[in-house]
Amino acid sequence: MMKVMIVRDYDEMSRRAAEIVKEQILKKPDTVLGLATGSTPLGMYKYLIEMHKNGEIDFSNVITFNLDEYIGLSPDHPQSYHYYMYENLFNHINIKKENIHIPNGVAEDLEEECKRYEREIRRIGRIDLQILGIGVNGHIGFNEPDESIETKTHIVTLTEETINANKRFFKSIEEVPRRAITMGLSSIMKARKIMLLASGSNKAKAIKETLKGRLTTKVPSTVLALHPDVTIIIDKGAASLLTDEELANVELTD
Ligand code: PGA
Repeated sequence: MMKVMIVRDYDEMSRRAAEIVKEQILKKPDTVLGLATGSTPLGMYKYLIEMHKNGEIDFSNVITFNLDEYIGLSPDHPQSYHYYMYENLFNHINIKKENIHIPNGVAEDLEEECKRYEREIRRIGRIDLQILGIGVNGHIGFNEPDESIETKTHIVTLTEETINANKRFFKSIEEVPRRAITMGLSSIMKARKIMLLASGSNKAKAIKETLKGRLTTKVPSTVLALHPDVTIIIDKGAASLLTDEELANVELTD
């Protein structure tokens, strides 16, 4: 049963999430972390940096795999997820560069890049703790709603909903890349533990669908109902559409 933690606001979601990551790294210093980008995990990363500066977390043996990267944005492009990760986390902690994995959105052969990324994940084994945000359309990573979904690392065409949701980071909508490389649902579902974060009422519908316990590729996050260890941390806004029907499917924790 999925565990659901309903917290007051974005800051509390971020703090609770950072605490879970800290506990995981204390328990297993060579933890393999699956990392997400976007607005949602920014607060969690701030807490993790603070914890590191206070001497509470040592990242020297931690290994990371990011979920996705835009096709066509080089690592030094300010809207690339490479840039985001260094800016918002890696430059401020003691992680080793060779332990960081992010798909390369400007690889000459993108199909080969997907295969390479998949091999890298397999070589390490399994992700210990996968952190996820969720799209307004229920995407996780950039696994977008579709009739069918490739389960391994693959190239996706972003939906209009996603392009619209992400245009706020770019000067104009034309600049938002149309394609991305994303980790597949297979690696996400093989993670030992998954933690999904959502904040704000614009995520309420996607969260409601996720907790229904009804699987559909039209809402990719619904696959999480099949995972044995998922914790969903949501604030009041993201929880605002939940009724007794969805709450009966989950274990509420605090
Ligand atoms: P956001 O994106 O955190 O910027 O809302 C989440 C996602 O698209 O997965």
